[in-house]
Amino acid sequence: MLLKPIMHKTEYTFSTKTVACYFDADLSSLAQAAGNKNIIILTDENVYSHHAARLNAYPVIRFPAGEEHKNQATVDQVIHELIKLGANKDSILIGVGGGVVTDITGYVAAVYMRGMQFGFVPTSILAMVDAAIGGKNGIDVGVYKNMVGTIRQPDLIFFDYSFLQSLPVKEWVNGFAEIIKHACIKDALLFSILERYSLHDYQADKTLIADLIERNAAIKSTVVTADEFEKGDRKLLNFGHTIGHAIENLHQIPHGHAVSIGMVAACNLSEELNMLHFEEATRIVKLLAKYHLPVDLETDHAKVFEVLKMDKKRRDEGVQFILLKRIGEAEIVYISLADLEKHFKEIL
Ligand code: GLY
Repeated sequence: MLLKPIMHKTEYTFSTKTVACYFDADLSSLAQAAGNKNIIILTDENVYSHHAARLNAYPVIRFPAGEEHKNQATVDQVIHELIKLGANKDSILIGVGGGVVTDITGYVAAVYMRGMQFGFVPTSILAMVDAAIGGKNGIDVGVYKNMVGTIRQPDLIFFDYSFLQSLPVKEWVNGFAEIIKHACIKDALLFSILERYSLHDYQADKTLIADLIERNAAIKSTVVTADEFEKGDRKLLNFGHTIGHAIENLHQIPHGHAVSIGMVAACNLSEELNMLHFEEATRIVKLLAKYHLPVDLETDHAKVFEVLKMDKKRRDEGVQFILLKRIGEAEIVYISLADLEKHFKEIL
């Protein structure tokens, strides 16, 4: 007999809202989680093509899949469809998909009728452990990623792991970069657990992946509840992202790959600078490689450095870098551009 998942709820309290996370849930229980609100689903064509039968229980708004559609044109289209459906204060917009869907959902919900309720059903590993959590939702403007957006928490996040069955392997790999990041900055025990298992183990064992997702959702939620508006500790979540964003833009590689290479560079820098006495770069490189993530890159260092200098985390003549003291403990370190340039060829 096939056992139904046992849905359980954990609440995280932010400055203006308590977010209800439903773990081990089944989409058929979404209405129960949404209370008496009228559900409207927002998804992309790719997710819809795999899950139409289940999603059609509600009105569905669709837009084409891909980061290139995370823009104002899609927002306008969705708003017109919400008007057509008569969406109002009694409605809840539920984004079903990956990071682009969660971004568009949160952003539209923030502006439609000056704010409507919204929630997420994340369908990728990356969305389950990262994109759906934290409240930052926005769109790209030309080449400028997440240039326009809001920080506004969803009312609910609904974790139905059956969506992972249709997730391509490359998207599993992509998501594990953020999981390894969480272990590096906050959770040494998680790091050892990841060393013990493999990607195949997590794909094959539903209990294992359920525990992993819940543990990572807790790490991200706890960091964000403590510093929702990124004045301090939330910056630790940028580990690997400073160089990662620069190479992601330049080389057009998947986010997880870029973050993986960025984490290796940050580990190397942590060792090079020696002020934190970090000595565990090799262990981290080994774990990233074990989860099929790239750990180096042929690149034009001067070009990467130029892009990095333009990064929004740059402060005056320096960069706020996230470095490691040890596995499970990170620190924000201000590094002058001159110092960073000196080490740049050694670390990347
Ligand atoms: N939406 C992702 C975050 O807030 O970090």
